[in-house]
Amino acid sequence: MPLLAPHLLPLLPFLSLLSLLLVTGTGVSPPSPKVLPRGCYIAEEAGEQTFRCSRAGLSTVPNGIPNDTRKLYLDANQLASVPAGAFQHLPVLEELDLSHNALVRVSGAAFQGLEGTLRHLDLSANQLASVPVAAFMGLQIQVNLSANPWRCDCALQEVLRHVRLAPGSGTGIVCGPGARPDLVGQEFLLLTREEELCGTGRGGTRRSTDVALLVTMGGWLTLVVAYLIHYVWQNRDETRRPVKRVPLVQPMRSEDSSTLSTVV
Ligand SMILES: *[C@@H]1O[C@H](CO)[C@@H](O)[C@H](O)[C@H]1NC(C)=O
Ligand SMILES: *[C@@H]1O[C@H](CO)[C@@H](O)[C@H](O)[C@H]1NC(C)=O
Repeated sequence: MPLLAPHLLPLLPFLSLLSLLLVTGTGVSPPSPKVLPRGCYIAEEAGEQTFRCSRAGLSTVPNGIPNDTRKLYLDANQLASVPAGAFQHLPVLEELDLSHNALVRVSGAAFQGLEGTLRHLDLSANQLASVPVAAFMGLQIQVNLSANPWRCDCALQEVLRHVRLAPGSGTGIVCGPGARPDLVGQEFLLLTREEELCGTGRGGTRRSTDVALLVTMGGWLTLVVAYLIHYVWQNRDETRRPVKRVPLVQPMRSEDSSTLSTVV
């Protein structure tokens, strides 16, 4: 205090308040370096670590989700896409709710790292016309895909072969405006009972022409190989024969040539 210049004395209360603020400020921040995103909170629900960020106005997957989270609720936000590895730092995540967002794109590696743990995934009530089947590879999950504008093509049929649907959520998978005109508004599961979208038929014409091409090429290859084998065998016979005949033929020829030469 004696060091303080006299003209700064009137500022003393203000300075002490400032230092107090700084001390308490720095005293508070170190114990919680992970500042939770606004509108998010941690809870323990039925003994499971739960992270809730419902209706938090999020447009991206937030940072700072604790790595022991088992249930994650990101529903009712404005998420537009799920990038690759978005949840790979959550090694015990079992349940993920992404419903009621604005999702138009889900990366093929969106759920990478969750293969051993994720059981429930809610993608309902978004803007998805399709999701890559790769996103579900290796996962043992139950998904809710209802209330999205699905394109209802082979890709969706493939997805449904790799996942189980949440009970009763199948009727909510309805074809959206991006689908074939005669499918728009139709329930996808009823549709796929009658039509195979990945095999032959209108949806699978490209695949069937590919198969036809493959069969034709296979046929040609077999013919070429058969001919080559035949050719090699024949040549083997021909190369054997002259070796035995040469001694028999040689003297006759020399005789012939000698007679010929004498004639000439
Ligand atoms: C979470 O991270 C901490 C520190 O990096 C680590 O010690 C702990 O094992 C992790 N927990 C899980 C469930 O992976
Ligand atoms: C699936 O999602 C729809 C729309 O969000 C919801 O109404 C329904 O209850 C969900 N079903 C299940 C089994 O989670």
